[in-house]
Amino acid sequence: MKKSTLLAPAENATLLGQMAQRLPLSDTHFRRISQLIYQRAGIVLADHKREMVYNRLVRRLRMLGIDDFGRYLALLESDSNSPEWQAFINSLTTNLTAFFREAHHFPILAEHAKRRSGNFNVWCAAASTGEEPYSIALTLAETLGSGPGKFQVHATDIDTQVLEKALAGVYRQEELRTLSPQQLQKFFFRGTGPHAGMVRVRPDLANMVSYAQLNLLANEWSVPGPFDAIFCRNVMIYFDKETQEKILRRFVPMLKPGGILFAGHSENFSQISKEFYLRGQTVYGLTKER
Ligand SMILES: C[S@@+](CC[C@H](N)C(=O)[O-])C[C@H]1O[C@@H](n2cnc3c(N)ncnc32)[C@H](O)[C@@H]1O
Repeated sequence: MKKSTLLAPAENATLLGQMAQRLPLSDTHFRRISQLIYQRAGIVLADHKREMVYNRLVRRLRMLGIDDFGRYLALLESDSNSPEWQAFINSLTTNLTAFFREAHHFPILAEHAKRRSGNFNVWCAAASTGEEPYSIALTLAETLGSGPGKFQVHATDIDTQVLEKALAGVYRQEELRTLSPQQLQKFFFRGTGPHAGMVRVRPDLANMVSYAQLNLLANEWSVPGPFDAIFCRNVMIYFDKETQEKILRRFVPMLKPGGILFAGHSENFSQISKEFYLRGQTVYGLTKER
């Protein structure tokens, strides 16, 4: 789309008028969007998500200069390999996360790591913008020390945009309020001048985390397993039971003997899969090892 500053004032006004106009989103188009995101990412969009879907996708349409959801869908569906699919997925994922979210998991992770031998290997399977994998790495660095051969965190997500932010490792300092001043000092650089108020993960910690795109629905998971722990928190809630079951079944061989699985606060895996039992608040072990 042309930049509006390059247009004559009258054109500019028309364009701004169009931009502010609400575009119709028919039932048919909403249903098609729901089907497509379900097929591609497993995400179930209930009817009450309609306004959210509108707000997220309309931005994409406006960036592309398209003023009709039908035309956008036609563009998307005309090429199954179009890069627009990734933008479509990125627009419809919910990426809410925080440092040390569900804080009770981190002492459990530390205790678990102390009891294991060898290189402690973690998979963070819905890493979003990096707060979760860096919280895991920070906990393990404090427990095991950092450096080669101690531990690694393999962080994945379907959304390429959040992975870029995670890799950059730059946050507003106020987002780190759950960290102690010592942790902040040890693991983050503080921005100065124009970057005041921002922090960046120090390389010692950043190097312990690797990032890759991974769709939990994909037939192949290219991850360096098996793992001592898997974090799969607050992503299964977007999937239906059948998808959750399939993913849980595939987690079983991805865990080392005695490995554990961390779930989100509203996710109950032992109700969905007989292969996992609840061994602590939203922490699961493998039933066969019970
Ligand atoms: C609400 S965030 C949770 C972030 C973090 N795990 C936490 O608990 O704070 C959900 C994440 O799941 C990712 N996601 C959604 N569908 C996915 C899929 N099919 N495969 C992998 N990641 C997916 C989203 O992109 C998003 O970043």
